[in-house]
Amino acid sequence: MMRILSGIQPSGSTHVGNYLGAIKQWVSSQNPDAYYCVVDLHALTLDIDPEELREKTLDCVATLLAAGIDPEIATLFVQSNVAAHAKLNWLLECVATFGELNRMTQFKEKSGRQKGYRVGLLTYPVLMASDILLYDAQQVPVGDDQRQHLELTRALAERFNARYGPTFTVPVGFVPHAAARVMDLQEPSRKMSKSLSSPLGSLYLFDEPSEIEKKIKKAVTDTDGEMRFDPKKKPGLSNLLDIFASFSNETPQDVASRYSRYGDFKSDLAALVIESLAPIRTRYRELRSDPGQLSAIITLGAKKASASAEPVYERAAKAMGLIGG
Ligand code: TYM
Repeated sequence: MMRILSGIQPSGSTHVGNYLGAIKQWVSSQNPDAYYCVVDLHALTLDIDPEELREKTLDCVATLLAAGIDPEIATLFVQSNVAAHAKLNWLLECVATFGELNRMTQFKEKSGRQKGYRVGLLTYPVLMASDILLYDAQQVPVGDDQRQHLELTRALAERFNARYGPTFTVPVGFVPHAAARVMDLQEPSRKMSKSLSSPLGSLYLFDEPSEIEKKIKKAVTDTDGEMRFDPKKKPGLSNLLDIFASFSNETPQDVASRYSRYGDFKSDLAALVIESLAPIRTRYRELRSDPGQLSAIITLGAKKASASAEPVYERAAKAMGLIGG
């Protein structure tokens, strides 16, 4: 059995990029040794209203359950409920260097957009490394944009093991073949994102069907009319083919070969996305209207995750020379 860990931030609304790049993989690889967390501590790196954070955290848990994570099989938990994440974060901040964090692409992008950004924005990848290393994760299913953070996690684990003795499992990333980087529908040179998209650029999991149809119809393509998968020369169309292929479990080339007109293809894509998301949406509504059930699942997840994480934290603390209680 493969020990797996992955996480998702509860900021913003979950989009099709999150679903195809990560959550779909989580569902298909879930097992009793899989840990999935809603990383609410990470969401604090940007200014978020406390009430909004509470609601979004519950939305996110309900979304993962609705998408098919089964809490009787895998462990689904909220990061801040497991104290070991913040504790290991400090130990690893004393292993990471300023230079390597300052080089992270996401930090450079996000810090460049704000004045007086929070220190947490810089140290964010160390907390992510703590999330992963605390569970002795072997595999981390993520979208393409998390590769650099994963490399840092591996580097920190190796450095820690070399300096303080074998302590952490060195994880590998698992990036899906299809839809590893779903692009913005209006600006296909930019990834689909929770915060930065143009109004028609992101397809959210709980968009109304009419909205999904509109966004796909208006998605930017090109004018040569040739139905072919070529992300460099035809980024808009290739992104749509990639989304189709990921939902239908085909290759984008096979999908392209069935169509000659963009309009027909877009109509079928909209129908496929709407049909695939419909059961998730129904289940989400049920879960979200039953706070008792959601809260029981969160409590169970916290208990299971803490039982795995605490001994690993103790192992690391002892290796560094902390005397423990
Ligand atoms: P987050 O919340 O931005 O995204 C959650 C997951 O969705 C993937 N993703 C995408 N995949 C394809 N196309 C896109 N346009 C797209 N946008 C997002 C992300 O790669 C991710 O897998 N730092 C992480 C959260 C995190 C984490 C962890 C992940 C914290 N601790 C430990 C793995 C392991 C993040 O901000 O993901």
